[in-house]
This record gives sequence, C-alpha cells and structure tokens, in this order.
Amino acid sequence: MTMAATPRAATTRAGLGRLLAAIESGREAKPEWIALRGECRLERLREGELTALLPRLHRSVLRGFKAPEPKGLGRKRRLALWRAVSSRGFHDFSDEGWTKCWDSPFVESYDYVGPYLTGGLSALDAFQVYSSVLGTHEYGVADFVDTELCQRVRTVVEPMAGCADFAYHGHFRKPDFRYVMFDLDSKARDFVAARRWLEAADWHYWIANVLDERVWKRIRTLTSGRSLSYIGKQSHHYLEAPQLLRLLEIGTRHVDYFMLEVQEPALVSDLAEVEDLTRPEMKDAGFRALLVDDPGVRPNPLTHRLSFSLEVRDRAGSRPLFHYKDWTSWQPVTLWALAQILGLRVFYFEPGAAEFRPLERAAEPGAEIADVNFLVFTRHQELRKSK
Ligand SMILES: C[S@@+](CC[C@H](N)C(=O)[O-])C[C@H]1O[C@@H](n2cnc3c(N)ncnc32)[C@H](O)[C@@H]1O
Repeated sequence: MTMAATPRAATTRAGLGRLLAAIESGREAKPEWIALRGECRLERLREGELTALLPRLHRSVLRGFKAPEPKGLGRKRRLALWRAVSSRGFHDFSDEGWTKCWDSPFVESYDYVGPYLTGGLSALDAFQVYSSVLGTHEYGVADFVDTELCQRVRTVVEPMAGCADFAYHGHFRKPDFRYVMFDLDSKARDFVAARRWLEAADWHYWIANVLDERVWKRIRTLTSGRSLSYIGKQSHHYLEAPQLLRLLEIGTRHVDYFMLEVQEPALVSDLAEVEDLTRPEMKDAGFRALLVDDPGVRPNPLTHRLSFSLEVRDRAGSRPLFHYKDWTSWQPVTLWALAQILGLRVFYFEPGAAEFRPLERAAEPGAEIADVNFLVFTRHQELRKSK
C-alpha cells in the first residue's frame, strides 16, 4: 500500500493540477487528505471542472479531501453540488471531511437522496439513510487494533451488523484480516453483499442470532490471530439483562476482545422526545430524519427502558425506517457490574491517547473520560499494569 504523506493543500487550480500530476506520476506519495481552498473551493469550480477533478482526486488520496462549507448558494445549487460529489465517490457523513474508504479503488455513490427526488419517501433506501445519520464513520478497525491491547488481532467479528459499516470500511484499511458479520436481517445481508469488497477480501455475512452460542463457536473455528468483536450503535440495548449477561459470557468465551459501542453516562429521560438527525442535503431535498419516541411511551428514568423509531418525514407524510422497541439503555456502570459477575476485565477506549485503559483507572488524575464510547470485555489478563 502507498505510504501516507503529510496532508496537502491547494489554493489555486494550477497548483492543484501540479499536485495531482505529481501524485499520479508517483513523484509524490498519496496524502491522506488534500485541502481545497481559495479558488479550489467546491462552489468556485465550474461543473465541468468538478466532473474532471473528482476522479483524479479519488485516485490521489488515501482518505479524501477537506473543503470549506460552500458559501452563497441557494438550496437547489447546494443540493446539486452535494449530489455531484457524493455520487462520485466521497461522502461527508463524519465531520472529518469528504471521505472515501481507505485507499479504495472503487468510486462508490453515496447519493442516497436521488431516489427521493423522483420517488418520495418510499423510494429512500433505509440502510443508506441509516448509514448517513448513524453509520460507523468516526472510528474504525484500525483505531482499535493499532493499540497495545489489540495489536495481535487478525479476525474482526461484527455481530448485529446491520449494514456493517465497521467491517466493510475496516477491510480497506486492514485487507489481510478476516471479517465475520452476522445479523437476523436477511435484507441487511443482501445490502452488505451488494457492496464492493476488495476481490481478495475474506468476508462472511451470516444470518444468526447473537445469543446462539453455535455461531460463536463457528467463529472460533474461523479465527486466525486474535479476534475482536464489535457491536455498534448500542445494539446490545435490544437485550434484556439475562440475555446481555449471557452474551457477555459467550462472546468473551469465543473471541479475545468483545467490544460494545456504549452511551456516555446519561439519564435516558433527559433525551428529547424527538431527536432531529436531519442532514443538510436532506433539508435541501425536502425531508427530515428523526429519532422519535413511540407514541405515548417516554423513556423510563429508573429502568432505562425506551421504544423509538428512526423515521423520515416530509410535507406529504412520514415513513418509519427502523423500529427499536423495548430497548434498555445500558449504562457503563451496569456493564461493569455484569463484567464483575462474570470475572471479566473491562477497558475503555481513550480517544486522545488512542489506547485502551482499564475501567478502574478512569478516575485517576490525567485520565481522559470525555467521549468514552467504546468498552472492551476480555478474559485475557496479561496487559501491563502500567497501561
Ligand atoms: C441498530 S442496528 C445496528 C447496526 C450496526 N451494528 C451499526 O453499528 O450500525 C441493530 C441490528 O441488530 C440486529 N439484531 C437485533 N437483534 C438481534 C439478534 N438477537 N441477533 C442478531 N442480530 C440482531 C438488527 O437486525 C439490526 O440490524
């Protein structure tokens, strides 16, 4: 794989042309990012220039490009610009910039809005909408396995995978790993199977229940190196306490590191009845995306039970995309208690240091506990005490 150079910036079209030519000829290494500024700002490029530029940019960067918010455009032109970029291989679903999969040769279309413009809410692809507002784009496989704790991982497991952004994005960054995903939803599997995977990729997507130990045993037979399992977007909230206890028990028995994406400590009754996730291009197209409590069911502050849907709405009506019924918002303290019952070690991911730290040390001076969104449960004991 091409080595990453430092981020590059272009402020003139001539300068950008020279930079891309140098990368294309191999005189310069591909940078992770190119920043487009001055006359290279997106809204300052003519349509033809943009159409010619995007494929060259796609071939020349590892991750993507950064560009300031377009200024002075009306709704229609802003949407047209967003669609022009997103249909040519870059999305802006995280705050980092316009992103492609790491060093991916595939120009994928992320324009999920187009079908809405011709067919309304019913034409939207539910998985694409989900991915644009809730997908796993901020942290990926590399962040977690390039740590002292997980450095020997070679197999990545994504249970309750849905559209499997974690494994799919991860396989571009760590193409030699094995990826095993599973979910109850065969439509999710079809969505993931239709994504463009690298030809040599070793991936499996099964239809299976996360509480069925047979699937975990089967994973173990496929595991090379150590294994990391990742359940994203608090999907373990689907489970009742005895089920969650069982999942922690069987998961950690068959994979080395069992990770949950968790909510930071918070009272669920503080959540708004409607949480607006609408992205700018949705607004420009004329619809909204919302997390909406089930009618008449507010989150219970004592049991942390709640029921809600991801819903899209426009002037003509609404459409629920995914229903999260009888969900329990499991707080870190409860997960810690379950881990103690099972005799598991628990680590939290500290984003600033990009390392895992034992949960017991979260109150020590210098510990950074803002943005703690990932906990790892393990039966391994050997991580050095100093970490
Ligand atoms: C909120 S989605 C999360 C998708 C993905 N993990 C992510 O980070 O975006 C939850 C997924 O869990 C799946 N699911 C629910 N119960 C399950 C179970 N018992 N076994 C396997 N998958 C399950 C659903 O079908 C759905 O795709």
